[in-house]
Amino acid sequence: MLVLGIETSCDETAAAIVKDGRKILANQVYTQTRAHEKWGGVVPELASREHLLLINQIVNETLNEASLRFKDIDLIAVTQGPGLLGSLLVGINTAKTLAWLHDKEVIGVNHLHGHICANFLESSFKPPFLCLLVSGGHTQIIKVLDYVNYEILGESIDDACGEAFDKVAKLLELPYPGGPLLDKLAQSAQDTFVSDSSIEAKSILHGRYSFPIAQVDNFDFSFSGLKTAVLRLKQSIPEDLWQKDKAKIALAFQQTVSKTLLRKLLKASNETGIRKIVIAGGVAANSTLRAEFAKEFSSQNGFELAKPELRFCTDNAAMIASAGYFRYQSSKESCGFSMEAFSR
Ligand code: KG4
Ligand code: ZN
Repeated sequence: MLVLGIETSCDETAAAIVKDGRKILANQVYTQTRAHEKWGGVVPELASREHLLLINQIVNETLNEASLRFKDIDLIAVTQGPGLLGSLLVGINTAKTLAWLHDKEVIGVNHLHGHICANFLESSFKPPFLCLLVSGGHTQIIKVLDYVNYEILGESIDDACGEAFDKVAKLLELPYPGGPLLDKLAQSAQDTFVSDSSIEAKSILHGRYSFPIAQVDNFDFSFSGLKTAVLRLKQSIPEDLWQKDKAKIALAFQQTVSKTLLRKLLKASNETGIRKIVIAGGVAANSTLRAEFAKEFSSQNGFELAKPELRFCTDNAAMIASAGYFRYQSSKESCGFSMEAFSR
């Protein structure tokens, strides 16, 4: 079954064609960094206008990449929500119009289900598993029962993990998009520490710039206190020291986030008995997170860890096509033209 996926929930305009939920025939992603960077974050109105300008071209390029035509497509899957309402509407109306024009069925997909299905792309990975979804809008531990059913065990009670990365990146005077740049900055400090194993180097990292881990009940998280701790640090140390030590501070922040997520996921694994672990969402691209998780959830420790390829961690339409495929296989029903966007 060939599924055309369309994703426009935030600032990526994306289309993809995926065969049977796993094999990618084409994958086009346009990230609207240029439109938003001078504003320091995503401007919803600009995002919808960009989607509108780009979506037809992206869909056509996707078909060209796969050397396919509309008549070859079996189903159109589109992100229905959550996301920016105006942006979602561009994708949904594109999907409905294409379906109407070419006499195809159309199915709406939950963006989070898409991130879960990113794990099935170009892989033979199977549920059940525990999924840590860490993106700009979500921080959740999800118990994935099968290809379409999942249960949210815990989530952030305030800022999403990616949101905390982006806000702390702003404190560190990094341009948008902050998360990946903060990661790069932290890596430069990590490289210094690898080459400098002196006690002084270690004590800086684990002493002066250590941040507290928020204590939250059950499987929930909180990141707003950590963000405030970085702000307090900035206000309490001399400007030149802040400027000099930014990379170390970024690394300490990143390590704290990683530890926070790791502890809760270990707890969830212990309580559910599920030893198959997956990380998904944009923050899953983070270098410290990937390294720490690989160490903790190793096969020697009795775990099976899946980390989708970096290009599948951030928003893309291949994961939406995959989710659409599995949803259609499960219900054998499409959505029809009455389908609407949901922002939350
Ligand atoms: O999943 P995603 O592409 O979009 C949402 O659905 O939100 O995630 C975007 C988020 C942003 O907050 C971005 O700063 C963060 O993921 N991100 C990272 C990294 N790459 C992307 N955060 C930390 N380290 C990274 N390498
Ligand atoms: Zn996402």
